[in-house]
Amino acid sequence: MPTKLLPKNKKLIVANWKMNPENIFEARKIFSLLKKSNFNLKKVVAVICPPVIFLNELSTGYRGKKFIFGSQDVSLDNKKKYTGETGISILKTSGVRLVIVGHAERRALGETNQSVAVKIKNVISAGLTPVLCVGENRRDLDGTYLRFVEEQLHESLKKVSRKDIEKVILAYEPIWAIGKGRKAISTHELHQMTLFIKKILSAIYNKKVAMNVPILYGGSIDADNCEEIINKGEVSGLLVGRASLNPYIFSDILKKVSSV
Ligand code: PGA
Repeated sequence: MPTKLLPKNKKLIVANWKMNPENIFEARKIFSLLKKSNFNLKKVVAVICPPVIFLNELSTGYRGKKFIFGSQDVSLDNKKKYTGETGISILKTSGVRLVIVGHAERRALGETNQSVAVKIKNVISAGLTPVLCVGENRRDLDGTYLRFVEEQLHESLKKVSRKDIEKVILAYEPIWAIGKGRKAISTHELHQMTLFIKKILSAIYNKKVAMNVPILYGGSIDADNCEEIINKGEVSGLLVGRASLNPYIFSDILKKVSSV
C-alpha cells in the first residue's frame, strides 16, 4: 500500500520555499497566482512548504483542492518546549499534512541521522507524512557516496517499523545538485540511485516494501527538465526549491508533470 497522501497513480510535487519570500504580501501574491494554475488534479498532488511564519495565514481559509501544505522541518520533541522551535501539534493545527525531514540544509546546520530518526517517528505518530531527505555531498569513483546514502537510510529509518514504512516518502537530493549555479542529476544516474535505494529498503524491510515507497528527486528542477526527470528517472515526484517561488514556472511544472 503506498502512502495515503500519495495514491500510486499520482506524482507528488513539493514546493520548498525555504526562507522566501521576504514578506507575507509576496507570499500571498505567489499563492494567489498559484491558485489559478491549471493542472490535472487526478495526476498530481501539489504541496507548498512556506516559511512557518506564513503557513497559517496561507492555509487558513483555503478551501481549494489544488494544494496541500507542508512544513520544512519540525521540532525534535513535542513535549519539551524549546524556544524558537515549532512542534508537530502546532504544525498540525496550521493545516500541515506533510513534513520535510533531514533536508541537506538542516543537516548542514547540525541535524544528525539520529535526530532525523526521532523526527520521522514523531511525524508518523502525529498522523502526518514525513519526507525523508537523503543525498551525498559529492560523487567519487570508489562508491563511497553509495555507502554514505546507505548509512543515512539505515540510521534515519531506525525507528520506522515494517508497518510504518508505508507512511514514509523518500527524497533523494544530491547536495551537489541543489541551489544556484548547479545542474540537476542525469536521468541515468538518478535511475541508478533509485534502484540502489530500493535495494537498501529491500534489505532493511522487504522487496514489496521497497517497491512501494515513493522516491522523489530534488536539486535544480525547473520547467525544462521536470518531465524528463519524472519520465526517465523513474521517480514518484519532485522536491522543487528555487523554481517553486516563481508561480508561473511552478504552475508550468505542475502542468507538465500532470500530463506526463
Ligand atoms: P533547488 O533546491 O531546486 O533550488 O536546487 C532544491 C531543494 O533544496 O530542495
